[in-house]
Amino acid sequence: MADRPGVLVTRRLPASVLDWLRAHCDIDLHDADTDLPRSELLRRVAGKQGLLAMLVDVVDAELLAHADRLRVVANVAVGYNNIDVAAARARGIVVTNTPDVLTDATADIAWALILDITRRVSEGDRLVRAGGWKGWGLEFMLGTSLAGKQLGIVGMGRIGRAVAARGRVFGMRIAYWQRDPSRPGEPDATPLSLERLLETSDVVSLHVPLNGQTRHLIDAAALARMKPTAYLVNTARGPVVDEAALAVALRERRIAGAALDVFEREPDVHPALLSLENVLLVPHLGSATRETRTAMADLAARNIIAVLTGAAPLTPV
Ligand code: DGY
Repeated sequence: MADRPGVLVTRRLPASVLDWLRAHCDIDLHDADTDLPRSELLRRVAGKQGLLAMLVDVVDAELLAHADRLRVVANVAVGYNNIDVAAARARGIVVTNTPDVLTDATADIAWALILDITRRVSEGDRLVRAGGWKGWGLEFMLGTSLAGKQLGIVGMGRIGRAVAARGRVFGMRIAYWQRDPSRPGEPDATPLSLERLLETSDVVSLHVPLNGQTRHLIDAAALARMKPTAYLVNTARGPVVDEAALAVALRERRIAGAALDVFEREPDVHPALLSLENVLLVPHLGSATRETRTAMADLAARNIIAVLTGAAPLTPV
């Protein structure tokens, strides 16, 4: 590159990725593991050609209006609901995400949540720490077996398929719903309408992106369709579930339990959920392994450099 382009990086990245980026461009780094305040983001994006953004950075028309020289936004996430992709495209700005590299980590945590909530692992941990364990009992803290039960996957993309594969290992029958019925089906899995999937599944696991069609996809009416013995697991995006409606369904035991890795207004959690025993609350750890986060940062960095050197982005959205 003749003249070194400027790139705003909104979080501290693994050293290997930063070193590599620095070899190719001038980095303006928010050297912290906290959000870059909005006013700073708007100020510092001006004049930059690349923006390496996190899922908490809102890249909207206001930001793009400040980004006079921007050519690429590389999101360190597979979801890109934080970015106004149409507005970016209208300005000729390429948007990229990080698919594939986080599929296994996210599917693993979905399964960590499924096993924990159905076998009451965290609930038991809380009980032991509180001194509430009085000894072994034949009917003490009974959970739910998974073998032979139905795992309902809402959104059969990469992560949905990886969750289904793990489900087969646990002996579960797989059903799925996908918005676009023309997409290729999944072998050894039954396609269902969303209504039917909710009515018949023992575990419902969400894997849809957040957009206008999926916001509050799981609302009071959807929850009312679920079996009273069923569990809801969300590792997708918080606003896919109406948290207030979920809290009511859990409190009134209209469903057996829920496990959430994502929330409507992170890091806030609906207060009605906090006191319930039948919900597991995890702080958005879906892709949080050292290996996966390094791979995500690396892919985002390579997308930035590809675009700034005139090559095709590796993973455009
Ligand atoms: C993603 O990539 O969308 C995940 O939520 C990040 O943890």
